[in-house]
Amino acid sequence: MATPDELQATIDALVQKGTGILAADESGATIAKRFKTIGVESTEENRRAYRSLLLTTPDLGRYISGVILYEETLNQCADDGEPLPQLAARQGIVPGIKVDAGKIPLALAPGDEITQGLDGLGERLKGYKQQGARFAKWRAVYNVSDTLPSRAAIEANAEVLARYAAVSQDQGVVPIVESEVLIDGNHTLARCAEVTQAVLYEVFRALARHRVVFEHMLLKPSMVVPGKSHALQATPEEVASETIRVLRRAVPAAVPSINFLSGGQSPVEATANLDALNRRGPQPWHLSFSYGRALQEPALQAWQGRPANVQQAQEALLKRARLNGAASVGAYSADMENAS
Ligand code: 13P
Repeated sequence: MATPDELQATIDALVQKGTGILAADESGATIAKRFKTIGVESTEENRRAYRSLLLTTPDLGRYISGVILYEETLNQCADDGEPLPQLAARQGIVPGIKVDAGKIPLALAPGDEITQGLDGLGERLKGYKQQGARFAKWRAVYNVSDTLPSRAAIEANAEVLARYAAVSQDQGVVPIVESEVLIDGNHTLARCAEVTQAVLYEVFRALARHRVVFEHMLLKPSMVVPGKSHALQATPEEVASETIRVLRRAVPAAVPSINFLSGGQSPVEATANLDALNRRGPQPWHLSFSYGRALQEPALQAWQGRPANVQQAQEALLKRARLNGAASVGAYSADMENAS
């Protein structure tokens, strides 16, 4: 049986000024896609080597308070035999676990998707917890067009997100509730704002219905941005203004922290946008990051699968972590990109 103290201790460890979360929980198919960009085959050993590289980065714990791992990584060890979740914890980084089983098309709703993985979740969480995981993540995805997502998709994804969050809290595991309004497409900034608001209203209605304790969860939303192929891209100030407007309407002040996903923004864009968000003055919640690509891309490019490049890759990761740490308190500036 979970205790509120256990959940609160995890929240306190995750939500620390100047820090955010590293998402390193790519599924088998996704990590294969990322490795392909550097010509590296996705073998178990290469995945272990790469994720060990990330977690052994010296000083990473100064800017990263938690790491989201994929199931396979919970069982893997660093070169010296230390289990990776234990290594993370020793760096002051709380280990977490992606628990959804990916998305499939939502039946009878062309273009919409639903995330699966609820069956047996409580039992799985017991095992993950024994392996060191203290928080979990579940990602719901929303495609955007003039007509998508449908009401059915918004309601169905909210329901499963809330059930996942309730089961996690019941097991003493802090849920990260991830709602990703996709950047793909040519929709406007205003359309993204409209969809994000509708999604978050429904997510919090469902969370309340399932008695999820808002104080003991984190929200991981996408920022409000125009579609990637829309002609008019937005400035960090526009992104910040629209994102804050929607969040203030939809997210209860009891939620301790909102940790954005990067969702296809470039590393520099994701940092500049987070900084602009934090420059808009105090908000009810901590506003930070839970980036995958925007933290890892430069490290992956530096690594190229070669042991000789490990140190350079770790420096690239540490730099992005440090700059996002600064952005999480509104203290980033573009010239920090060029300083060593
Ligand atoms: P990105 O920052 O690359 O969007 O990844 C975050 C994540 O955890 C996706 O589920």
